[in-house]
Amino acid sequence: MCGIIGYIGHEPNPEIVDILIDGLQRLEYRGYDSAGVAVMTEAGLELQREVGKLSNLVKKLASIELIGRAGIGHTRWATHGRPTEYNAHPHTDPDKQLVVVHNGIIENYLDLKEELAALGHQFASETDTEVIAHLISHYYQGDLKEAVQKTLLRLEGAYSICVMHVKEPNYLVAAKTSSPLLLGKGDGVNFIASDIPAILRHTRDIIYLEDGDMAVVYPDKLELFRIDGTPLERPVQHIDWNLVAAEKMGYDHFMLKEIHEQPAAFSQTLGGRISEGHQRLYLDEINLTPEQLKGLNRIYIVACGTAYYAGMVGKYLIEKFARIPVEVDVASEFRYRNPILDGQTLVIAISQSGETADTLTAMKLAKQQGALTMGVINVKGSAITRVTDGTLYIHAGPEISVASTKAFIAMLAAVNLLALHFAQVREQISLPELTAAMHELRRLPRLMEETLHAVEAPVNALSTVLLRYHHCLYLGRGINFPIALEGALKLKEISYIHAEGYAAGEMKHGPIALIDALMPVIAVVTEGDAYDKVISNLKEVRARDGLVIAVATVGDERIKDVANEVIYVPAVPEWLSPVINVIPLQLLAYYVALRRGYDVDQPRNLAKSVTVE
Ligand code: M6R
Repeated sequence: MCGIIGYIGHEPNPEIVDILIDGLQRLEYRGYDSAGVAVMTEAGLELQREVGKLSNLVKKLASIELIGRAGIGHTRWATHGRPTEYNAHPHTDPDKQLVVVHNGIIENYLDLKEELAALGHQFASETDTEVIAHLISHYYQGDLKEAVQKTLLRLEGAYSICVMHVKEPNYLVAAKTSSPLLLGKGDGVNFIASDIPAILRHTRDIIYLEDGDMAVVYPDKLELFRIDGTPLERPVQHIDWNLVAAEKMGYDHFMLKEIHEQPAAFSQTLGGRISEGHQRLYLDEINLTPEQLKGLNRIYIVACGTAYYAGMVGKYLIEKFARIPVEVDVASEFRYRNPILDGQTLVIAISQSGETADTLTAMKLAKQQGALTMGVINVKGSAITRVTDGTLYIHAGPEISVASTKAFIAMLAAVNLLALHFAQVREQISLPELTAAMHELRRLPRLMEETLHAVEAPVNALSTVLLRYHHCLYLGRGINFPIALEGALKLKEISYIHAEGYAAGEMKHGPIALIDALMPVIAVVTEGDAYDKVISNLKEVRARDGLVIAVATVGDERIKDVANEVIYVPAVPEWLSPVINVIPLQLLAYYVALRRGYDVDQPRNLAKSVTVE
């Protein structure tokens, strides 16, 4: 977590602070405990930091004029040391000759700190980052690149860093291991950033650094090395994201805008992957041959948070259509439980950012153990895509809100495509069935539009009801059980109301003890195999005075006997219902958080890309 930006040009630039702040604004989703910038001015290094959100730093900078050729900036998600100004980045060495911004965790920083303290170093913060700054100054003998190199060899843990030295104003040094970092090639200016949106206004030509890479960044050239000094080249990737997609476009929040972008996100994932006559799928980028797919005896899906729930939906779909057993694992558990993997196992990572540390590490383990691997990923060229054998990009466009919505929808589109593709290759589906299924998939964006239109106003009104409560239970069954989990996650992460998702049939095995007038139940109860069973579960809730809010299929009158409030959604086949049913739950979380007065796009304690384990 934490966001880093670096800029270097030939001439002193009066807009340098705007460039850094604009970049940090687009990285603020990575953390917002404090922010800071350092600028290389004619007079030397100027450092400004402020605790809290970036807007606090912007206020502070309003009365300060900074003109410089180079600068670095940072937005922090606190790990070592409380969110205070003295713990904010950039950090300096004792002589204030250099500045460092850092994303990651240095595991051996206490040992290094002790070692430096014994040499007389005094520290001004509680952070691991300050130790990096001191260590670089300790090794510095007129060559910043060399000093950084020696420092990196001493560090254990995860880092992406950007360093600027007053005696070497012509370049910045960047390096990464585990945490993400990329370079942006501009015209006479170059950039360093944690993520693409930070520099998209200036360039679309990106170089991703790999673990163990270092870069010396001049205004007109980029030199790349391994930490041991071996020179290297990395490919330049051209990013085709639209900058407008990373703006709010008149919406009050990115989350609401992204909810409304879902029909388009779903279409973009389907993209050109379905043939004209709906007879076959084009998924060559997953790099799995028909023989490999036919030989599979198990699939693992590994992911975190919302992406994990998309994986659970994927399990239902792949097992239904392709008849391959699927296990879905929380990535942070998968890697520690010694999973049984071989060349007939496919491990699929699902991740919006492609940088989630737990998922990335799980995929490295799968690769080491000889499994086939692939990613379902949004961000082009991100770390997971560089580990897996193939990648199915979901093409959702930039997702800025910390609460994931449109990426989830695009992940659902992707797992549908995979399930049908696997089924076709393994001859588990007839051509007419496949054609009909793809036809249904194609209809969905229009039905999603219809859903948004139909449910937004009633859900907004309903959100006032939930304000009274401190807890909520979400119920769903079958393929909609993950949707109950996702609804609960959305509510808790942005409105801070305690919410739990449960398989409706499990309720009587424990959670029913919680049901009383203070425990509202939000149930996904659209048409499907388990409809009658869920109705029975809801009767049990009503019998205990619980308030029932149901997401039901339009035209369903029976539901009114058991639900206090009903949100109607269009009818779709059950296997596609998660795509529709999640929409009212996302909107409910949004409007509840809004009414409670919380910062919807930047909920407390969270960061969008979780790049630490
Ligand atoms: O970038 P990823 O999809 O790998 O992120 C996974 C989770 O961190 C993410 O889905 C998280 O749970 C979101 N805040 C959910 O809204």
